[in-house]
Amino acid sequence: MHKLAQLDHRYLWHPFTQMRDWLKREPIVITSGKGTVLRDVHGKEYLDANSSIWTNLHGHRHSKINAAIQRQLKKISHSSALGFANEPAALLAAKLAEAANRIYELRFTNDAPTVKPARKSQIANHKLEKVFFSDDGSTAMEVALKLAYEYARRTGRSKNPKFLSLANAYHGDTVGAVSLGHIELFHKAYAGLLFKSDTVMSPYCYRCPFNRAKPVRADAREYRKCNWECVDKVEHRFATQKKSGNPYAAFVFEPLIQGAAGMIAQPKSWLRRVTEIARGHGAQLIADEVMTGFGRTGQLSTSPFACHHEGLQPDFMALAKGLTGGYLPMAATLTTQSVFDVFLGDYEEFKTFFHGHSFTANQLGAAAALASLEVLQSKASIRARQRLEQTLRDELKTLWPLPNVGDIRQVGLIVGVELVKDWRTRKPFDLRERAGIRVCEAMARRGVLTRPVGNVIALMPPYCTTMKQARRMVSSLRDSIDEVLAG
Ligand SMILES: Cc1ncc(COP(=O)(O)O)c(C=O)c1O
Repeated sequence: MHKLAQLDHRYLWHPFTQMRDWLKREPIVITSGKGTVLRDVHGKEYLDANSSIWTNLHGHRHSKINAAIQRQLKKISHSSALGFANEPAALLAAKLAEAANRIYELRFTNDAPTVKPARKSQIANHKLEKVFFSDDGSTAMEVALKLAYEYARRTGRSKNPKFLSLANAYHGDTVGAVSLGHIELFHKAYAGLLFKSDTVMSPYCYRCPFNRAKPVRADAREYRKCNWECVDKVEHRFATQKKSGNPYAAFVFEPLIQGAAGMIAQPKSWLRRVTEIARGHGAQLIADEVMTGFGRTGQLSTSPFACHHEGLQPDFMALAKGLTGGYLPMAATLTTQSVFDVFLGDYEEFKTFFHGHSFTANQLGAAAALASLEVLQSKASIRARQRLEQTLRDELKTLWPLPNVGDIRQVGLIVGVELVKDWRTRKPFDLRERAGIRVCEAMARRGVLTRPVGNVIALMPPYCTTMKQARRMVSSLRDSIDEVLAG
């Protein structure tokens, strides 16, 4: 075993990993990367098919992002945001606010005819003008949660603000973010530490009890037969809570697709419908764009955010993962002037938002993020993303003949392939059979790295992935399913 692998075995504890299994075999030790390719200590090359857990946007060692970090290194790496401003963080906050408010341009210039905000109220007075920096997706959500909580209390909406989030939601691992989550496997153990949040059905068409359609070889969202019962459930939840005299303070969701829930993609217009209901009941909207942000859900005119695909502007937008192009841990929570204003007051009123982190507004992260945003908005990147999305769409069709492929869900550059015992019955694998894990291990042997979400295989390549590499990702998935599950 390589000496670095030995050190890892001796000292490291890996996230979301059964360490007994980990210690049974030599881990892949990554030493370098370029574009979509990762290289290990033995010189073996792999394709980074999940963008290093959904973080990397433009590929590893990108010349523009490297150069931006190096330029910043020559000035300063970090100074505190407690008491001081800094150059790249100020510039970045302005750029993020600009990007997050592109929905207003879309509407007024009419350059995205597919986007129709259902009602003016969906976007009016929700300009995201204030940016609070933190370190990762969990902290970005924690900030949104605390702000929404205090906003509801200070505006008199609720003395004891309550939150509604989706079934199987995952918003991170800090205690507040876990309280908003509803994945039993991850969250049950900590129930005693958490505050209670309510949950409502999310639109998982493939396994929806209201979907009357027999399985066919297509994305279940396309052939579903239902009456939008999942939307009725949301309406019912809000109405019931209102009767209790303490209406929900906020509705929390991942827009277009729930990642860690199993790449559960929402049918078109679901988000618009349910957020209209939430706003109709006076709740604020917390959009977790930690996975979906920065072009992941496909190119929409000039906007890189998933909410805007449904003509929706939330009150809080949480960003992380791709913010720095996947280079450095940095996150942001964007919110409105009206939320900001309830924290204003004379010093001795102590209305201050008492929250922050040592590395808030870190300069290296902000410099990387500025460079990443510039690359993201370039014509070359937009074209590359469109090509990659289409190539994935075409290649994924080759998986339908496999009997163990139940559903294929693609939203832009995010793909989830749900493995089942038999597509005709939709019978799931028991988690103990480790179907997803075994398929990913077989893919790794073929030189393609990704991680399953239960029995769902995620593909989420960096935007610089070539068409040949994309085809290899899908063909290695196909061959691995065949090898591991057939027969
Ligand atoms: C939608 C979503 N929100 C929040 C998080 C938490 O982000 P982090 O792992 O950076 O804390 C994740 C992580 O996967 C996520 O997918």
